[in-house]
Amino acid sequence: MKNIAILCSGGDVSGMNPALKHFVEYSLQNGLTPYFVYDGFEGLIDNKIYKAAHQHVAGIINRGGTIIGSARSKRFMEREFREIAKNNLDALRINMLLVLGGDGSFRGMELFYKEHGIRFCGIPSTIDNDINGTQYCLGVDTALNVIKDSIDNIRDTAASFSRAFVIETMGRNCGYLALVSALCSGAELCLIPEIEYDLKEYEESFKEQIRSGRKYFIAVVSEGIKEESSEIAKWFEQKIGLESRVTILGHTQRGGNPTIYDRLMAYKFVTHAIDGLLDDKNESVICYSKKGFEYKSIDEVANKKYELDSELLGYLKRF
Ligand code: F6P
Repeated sequence: MKNIAILCSGGDVSGMNPALKHFVEYSLQNGLTPYFVYDGFEGLIDNKIYKAAHQHVAGIINRGGTIIGSARSKRFMEREFREIAKNNLDALRINMLLVLGGDGSFRGMELFYKEHGIRFCGIPSTIDNDINGTQYCLGVDTALNVIKDSIDNIRDTAASFSRAFVIETMGRNCGYLALVSALCSGAELCLIPEIEYDLKEYEESFKEQIRSGRKYFIAVVSEGIKEESSEIAKWFEQKIGLESRVTILGHTQRGGNPTIYDRLMAYKFVTHAIDGLLDDKNESVICYSKKGFEYKSIDEVANKKYELDSELLGYLKRF
């Protein structure tokens, strides 16, 4: 069989469309017939599987999101629905699948492979950058650039109005987005779920900075910390004596024109994923680290907890 399909699962990221474009082009170059599965594993169950060609991917490389849709599927975690999905793939003689998603999606694929032998390669894709075994997940660079633009804009008004701004990033339980953004945007405070904090420890220094002429503060906090961002703003007002505002960046971080880095990584991830499948790597995830691209077992990637880069954590401790 020479048929291969791709689907997007979980939170969409900018970089998925460039990946879809290269998937179609590289499959065709390799003599494979490419298929799109619409709406993630839900579409696999509901048979939304269609042949893809050059015309479907023309003009999408600069667009965020994914033209084939994404979803979080509870049904796919149940055996009976995986059976239906398998029958849908069989009917089209598809036996290779690329999955753009996170560790939850890969765990679903592991079951699918064990039960039905569908060969697959996962491509880590989440703005949270919280997948074990890979230092980079597709979409992270675009999200960081969106956050950087927002913080730069907020700085303009914070400086003009002498206020403290608490800027909340996404990331679920991972502080990567907040930490890198804080380092690259010159924030005065960064709070992430991985590191315990006590706001009292900052009080004296922040008041001293105000006495020495500081007019505004930028705090970047991750959505997974123990307090609401409004509580941090209240602390700035009550303990530091600065008028404060909260900006929750929310889903703005998931959209936007994919950066050059994400376009390039999409190209590389897809190339390695298809090469791996053609080379009989059947149930792996293509991971990226300083050593380059490597295929890792689903167990290593999906069943072990991600830990934030120790070098980055070291910088935060010196904040
Ligand atoms: O996992 C990606 C992510 O954007 C997280 O950072 C965030 O917590 C979550 O998804 C938001 O999910 P939803 O789009 O379902 O609100």
